[in-house]
Amino acid sequence: MDPLSDAKVIDSWHTNAAAWSDIVRDQGVESRRLVTDAAIVDAVTRRAPRRVLDLGCGEGWLSRRLAQEHHMDVLGVDAIPDLVRRAQALGGARYEVASYESLATRHFDPPFDAVVANFSLLGAEAVDGVVARVPAWLSAGGCFIVQTVHPLVANGERPYRTGWREGSWAGFPSAFTDPAPWYFRTTADWISLVVRAGLAPVEVLEPLHPTTERPASLLIVARRA
Ligand SMILES: C[S@@+](CC[C@H](N)C(=O)[O-])C[C@H]1O[C@@H](n2cnc3c(N)ncnc32)[C@H](O)[C@@H]1O
Repeated sequence: MDPLSDAKVIDSWHTNAAAWSDIVRDQGVESRRLVTDAAIVDAVTRRAPRRVLDLGCGEGWLSRRLAQEHHMDVLGVDAIPDLVRRAQALGGARYEVASYESLATRHFDPPFDAVVANFSLLGAEAVDGVVARVPAWLSAGGCFIVQTVHPLVANGERPYRTGWREGSWAGFPSAFTDPAPWYFRTTADWISLVVRAGLAPVEVLEPLHPTTERPASLLIVARRA
């Protein structure tokens, strides 16, 4: 398998499903605990959607939060059956196993008022394809809300050019192995991705880590015309 490919992204998440579920549920990732969980919940709730699609929902924390605390009707989808089973076990929202590739021909009726992707758009063509489908799943005026690693911070000293990067679990416990590669996109290329899909960016946020005052993420909200 090509180590820098969409297929390898899925392969690695199969391997790390249990470790990922444990660390998310133990609130073990500092940037999530301090900054990015609240940032995505705030970005979604401010738009008060009734129906939400959580793309790449993982073990389901965001779907659960939006459904149980904010009374939204949420569908979470993820390619990894082990993660979806864990999400289903805690309930709150509905969950399905679905890869972005498998969603290419999918229709949702009624449509969603918001499609949310929290640190889950990791690949190249798979992500281009699923983002291109988002407008077809949104109601008129509905929003696509993406949170991702901040391009400048996550890329370090490497050339600021869109392309594949090897994965790393630096700073994560030893239960994590075989890190997923990820497709780095510059900020301009994130914006182009949503514009190419026919969506209009209405908000771009860079939530700051409270102590380092460096951006903990890049958060883009784009609206269906
Ligand atoms: C960093 S986790 C984030 C999970 C969740 N959104 C959260 O905030 O905890 C990335 C997730 O994206 C999912 N994912 C990556 N590529 C995917 C694809 N092509 N199709 C479906 N899910 C994918 C992985 O399985 C994983 O659950």
